[in-house]
Amino acid sequence: MSEGARGAGRPVPAGPFDRGREMASVTRTHNQPARKWPAEGVSRVPYWVYSDPEVYKREMEVIFAGHSYNYVGLECEIPNPGDYRRSFIGDKPVIFLRDGDGEVNVVANRCAHRGVKFCYAEHGNTSEFICPYHQWTYDLKGKLIGVPFRRGVKGRGGMPKDFKMEDHGLEVLKVATRGGVIFASFDPTMPSLEDYLGDKMLRYFDRVFDGRKLKLLGYSRQRMRSNWKVKFENLKDPYHASLLHVFLVSFGLFRADTPSRTEMDATGMHAVQVAQRGEQKAGEGTADMRAMMADLKLANPEMLQPYPEWASKGDETVVMQTVWPNLIVQQQSNTLAMRQIRAFSPEEYELHWTFFGYEDDDQEMTLRRLRQANLMGPAGYVSVDDSEVMESAQSGVSRFPNEEAVVEMGGRGTEDTPHMVTEGAIRAFYKHYIDVMGF
Ligand SMILES: [Fe+2]
Repeated sequence: MSEGARGAGRPVPAGPFDRGREMASVTRTHNQPARKWPAEGVSRVPYWVYSDPEVYKREMEVIFAGHSYNYVGLECEIPNPGDYRRSFIGDKPVIFLRDGDGEVNVVANRCAHRGVKFCYAEHGNTSEFICPYHQWTYDLKGKLIGVPFRRGVKGRGGMPKDFKMEDHGLEVLKVATRGGVIFASFDPTMPSLEDYLGDKMLRYFDRVFDGRKLKLLGYSRQRMRSNWKVKFENLKDPYHASLLHVFLVSFGLFRADTPSRTEMDATGMHAVQVAQRGEQKAGEGTADMRAMMADLKLANPEMLQPYPEWASKGDETVVMQTVWPNLIVQQQSNTLAMRQIRAFSPEEYELHWTFFGYEDDDQEMTLRRLRQANLMGPAGYVSVDDSEVMESAQSGVSRFPNEEAVVEMGGRGTEDTPHMVTEGAIRAFYKHYIDVMGF
């Protein structure tokens, strides 16, 4: 068993995230896949992984609903008792909420009676959830508290006498929170979130989520006609950044000739792309960068005026962190966002962006974060390039499922590198992926 399955089979360690809740037992079983990975290993990615429905089905079970923590939302989105918001784990609808005791709970958006997705509102405040179909009612801990006609009508019908309400609550997920970020898992045997991230990744996570209260700034979302992994890989691929993105290259926001590095955790599940901002100046290292526009001017240069808020935490001005399997923590200059990957089918996902700042930001800082947010999101000056390329990539890989990608930039290894001219984090991702999927 790989290190990625740390904690599997071991007793759940006692800690602040083990609240001793009653967990639904995981009894899902998985057959071995029929597909074979190329003999070259992680320096090749077979294109069938991006479109095969069987592969997708298996991913939803063993990756998203398996031994993983999935980002679901921020605590600042549900500040008051009764606040709830819908979210997703892979393609499974869930709800995160704050109960009457102030605890954060995450439940499957699936009635225990007939499987109905009972919560329709994107967010709201409530004291209970009522399924529209037969009005089974649940409290904010997921407990079943009402079954209409349970004792029948005029002595006829009703549930059997031995029907136990406590056996038919909502599926309650294991929850872990840190720095105002909420993660959940369908697997009740998960170790702590800290063990899951490991020390190296935790340090980067805590850099942004340093204990200050977060302030929600807004959302954007986009439906993409591509496989979810194409997006996850995109954020583990610094090689493209200096070549594809006019904005990153021209303004030196993230560029191969400035100090940068790629780091992974021991398993390859998580990674960071780290860089230090350069200048809008052509030089020796920019010759290969066709996207470089040395004379590109902004009508309002304020948009990119940085404020050195990260200076006390190192010299990096960009840290993009990918947390297996569905989260990208975005820190580019002063714009902060959680990007959540919601899968919908083998060739469709939604990218859900939650922009945030800190409660102690002044108005000017909030404005700065919002201005810089124009780089990101569905129509972002940077991200729009990725969106276009994601769909173009899908159009190639889904029509040629028996071909394969060559992933050899920076060598064939999966080690950290003090530069961004590498695809090492993609190889590290597939090292773990192959292991988990059983290829
Ligand atoms: Fe990109």
